[in-house]
Amino acid sequence: MYTSPLNQLGPLTVAEFLRSYWQQRAVYLPQVLPDFTSPLTAEELAGLALEEDIESRLITHTAAAPWQLENGPFDEERFHSLPESDWTLLVQAVDQLVPEVHALLQQFRFLPSWRLDDVMVSYAPTGGSVGPHFDYYDVFLLQGAGTREWKIGQACDSFSDTLDGTPLKILKNFEPQQTFICKPGDILYIPPGVAHWGTAQDNECITYSIGFRAPSVADILCDFSQEVASTLTNDQRYRDSQSENFFKPGEISTATVQHLRDIINEQLTDESLARWFGRYMSQPKYPEQQHIEHTGDASPLSNNDLVELLAQDPVVYQAQDARFSYHQNSQSCYLFVNGEEFTCPPTLAETLCNQTSFQLTALDAAGDNNQRELLCHLLDQGWLELDED
Ligand code: SIN
Ligand code: CO
Repeated sequence: MYTSPLNQLGPLTVAEFLRSYWQQRAVYLPQVLPDFTSPLTAEELAGLALEEDIESRLITHTAAAPWQLENGPFDEERFHSLPESDWTLLVQAVDQLVPEVHALLQQFRFLPSWRLDDVMVSYAPTGGSVGPHFDYYDVFLLQGAGTREWKIGQACDSFSDTLDGTPLKILKNFEPQQTFICKPGDILYIPPGVAHWGTAQDNECITYSIGFRAPSVADILCDFSQEVASTLTNDQRYRDSQSENFFKPGEISTATVQHLRDIINEQLTDESLARWFGRYMSQPKYPEQQHIEHTGDASPLSNNDLVELLAQDPVVYQAQDARFSYHQNSQSCYLFVNGEEFTCPPTLAETLCNQTSFQLTALDAAGDNNQRELLCHLLDQGWLELDED
């Protein structure tokens, strides 16, 4: 299933949105998807939250016990014992589970696909809320059903005070600045660090949160350096630079610091950064939630199997739990899929990553008919899927 990226966000073109709001300011975008009907009902969402491998949370709120968190999986009893109002059920990465939600995510490919994270879906009866908070990543909050009131607050950071007595990061002080009533098809865009507080206005309220990946600089440094370090041996050690003079025995000189920087820079090539980043950003966040509907372990595809398939020329598409991206420089081209890296001809990488469905013969041609081993591997892993129709 493929849905083209949006080029209009309600009253704004995508270009206007990117220029004036993306990563800068919150904006209410009425009727971005005027005909949107929630592909999931509250009952279906609750059904997902019963599953062992699906990440779900329940947030309840009473005066006696404010902002309580329970992690799924839940049993049906739990849902029957819930009060009539003031709770929220949230299910993570629903795009990996429900084809229509995966298609919805594709509409946000006007931004790099490797930045897209997942679609979280929430259901809440009247009064249900996850409380005033901020997130570290951009989010499009699409109203799927019912009505939600959103209040937008102040800019926050890790020093903003949060309430004690709850595992949730609920802001102690929320300074409302704008209020919006979101109806199905409306989107509220919130940049990182902006406080927001949504409250369900009826018993139909379903919200789709299209979230983005934003690793912390600390994570970038740690993960990259760990990977580089794993390729080095103990024989590679600090050595004094030839040009150093040791006049003052206690001093760590500017020249020493420069020399240290050179040691680090030697490892920090564009190539090593790009290859690490491609693998890092393509890693699945909820691997246990993947391929839930895929059963059986079919034997690997042989070259002959692929030749037979090519004769039928089926439509092939990126699996809903596959993350494809690539990097090309003057010498090489790398394809990244779900944390793995492959060298790949640029035309094939471009086709695989910039589109989401293809004719198998077109893929074969993009790989000059000699990338069949790679194509078999992508099909075997379930990252490329054949259209069964
Ligand atoms: C919700 O859907 O209730 C919460 C989404 C969010 O605030 O990020
Ligand atoms: Co939020």
